[in-house]
Amino acid sequence: MSESSHQDRVLIFDTTLRDGEQSPGATMTHDEKLEIAAMLDEMGVDIIEAGFPIASEGDFEAVRDIAKLSKNAVICGLARAQLPDIDRAWEAVQHAARPRIHTFIGTSPLHRDITALTQDEMVERIEATVAHARNLCDDVQWSPMDATRTERDYLCRVVETAIRAGATTINIPDTVGYTAPRESAKLIEMLLERVPGADEIIFATHCHNDLGMATANALAAVEAGARQIECTINGLGERAGNTALEEVVMALKVRNDIMPFRTGIDTTKIMGLSRKVATVSGFPVQFNKAIVGKNAFAHESGIHQDGVLKNAETFEIMRPADIGLNATNLVMGKHSGRAALRSKMKELGFDLGDNQLKDVFVRFKALADRKKEVYDDDLLALMRDSDLDAEHDRIQVKFLRVICGTEAPQSADLILSVDGVEHRVTAQGDGPVDATFAAVKQLIEHDAHLELYQVHAVTGGTDAQATVSVRLSEDGKIATGQASDTDTVVASAKAYVNALNRLMVRREKTKPEGNLAAI
Ligand code: KIV
Ligand code: ZN
Repeated sequence: MSESSHQDRVLIFDTTLRDGEQSPGATMTHDEKLEIAAMLDEMGVDIIEAGFPIASEGDFEAVRDIAKLSKNAVICGLARAQLPDIDRAWEAVQHAARPRIHTFIGTSPLHRDITALTQDEMVERIEATVAHARNLCDDVQWSPMDATRTERDYLCRVVETAIRAGATTINIPDTVGYTAPRESAKLIEMLLERVPGADEIIFATHCHNDLGMATANALAAVEAGARQIECTINGLGERAGNTALEEVVMALKVRNDIMPFRTGIDTTKIMGLSRKVATVSGFPVQFNKAIVGKNAFAHESGIHQDGVLKNAETFEIMRPADIGLNATNLVMGKHSGRAALRSKMKELGFDLGDNQLKDVFVRFKALADRKKEVYDDDLLALMRDSDLDAEHDRIQVKFLRVICGTEAPQSADLILSVDGVEHRVTAQGDGPVDATFAAVKQLIEHDAHLELYQVHAVTGGTDAQATVSVRLSEDGKIATGQASDTDTVVASAKAYVNALNRLMVRREKTKPEGNLAAI
């Protein structure tokens, strides 16, 4: 009997590296993807959707290398309903101990119009592509994209076709976050009731969060019989994102009395993954986000504080330790040593190798000299900045001096290293940040448009680091950059340069034919 045939076991399918990476601006590097995949594997995720191999050489290599390295999880690659896509996905995932091909096509009237296929022609396409995938791989997942807006009779027909052609998992995506919990449940019930062979396969639920109901819709689908939840860390994903892994997993744990299902997730790894994904994707977690937000266990009002001190259960439905959050926020300072830093970073989700530890330790000491107390958030900011100087970044900030104050114009003297060669320029602007950005633009000519510039204090105090976020757009491509420093202008320069580096990575990604942005 397979583990998934146990009626109370729900498989967790994580698509942070595929659907999550489709968030505008959330490009991750090859090494970052490998690190996240290893953490997901260790956490007990059942299936990791590692990428979309035909989308770019980089995606292909990431899926292939994750397939080679992963120990426990099924490794899945996405493919459109086209034979070359499926072959490429197989080429990448075949190295896994447990490979899966996930193929999909948009089945709603809107999507049938785009592909210009009649209902019958689409059925034929599904039959041919799923059968082709099944000839390559024993584990095939098929998705009717925009299922929740597909005519019910037609949905039953295409699902039956995919099952007959060999699909072992049928995923029902709410691609545009349009459904609601009762409808989500009814859809799964209907498919289980009407489609021949439905009891032989696993139904999955894949919900987007456009109306803020993704987690509720996913759980409703499980109550109706779905046994695989597709989700991402921090709910990362297109537009408003996907079902958040931490939300469904903790909901099933905390409310097991009314939802008697279990997952194989080690929940104490949740916080580490959340921080890791926030750091590498450049998408900070909103303060009031369920489970992983900074305020999820913070109590402000006197009544709440008093209650929690007497008995935490008065205002907490789970313990911070359940998600791997330390009750005490151990403060690091300039007397802390390497061993303490290594163990602290591990707790924060970063398993540092010796060389990386050496680099981060130097930065930590420099920060501790400038700042009395170094908090978890400072260390996370430090990690992000250590990535900025990684070898793959072609542009790096080497020196910056600004002259600012009440007398205009303000000016910036900047040295950037571009592909290892240093260039210097002085520029003026309306304020120190404007002058700095003008200097960057003089050295790196580009047409990218600055869409967002935001400054946040990482912690309290006048010696706090500032985290600056910059969002650039160019020809429909979006890249975000982030950097932190106790000097806000230095953080601004680094964030701008970080966004430019990411934009270059995006430019290099060659897209396959068709509109990948639509999925
Ligand atoms: O949202 C969606 O429909 C998808 C599919 C590719 C499963 O991400
Ligand atoms: Zn999706």
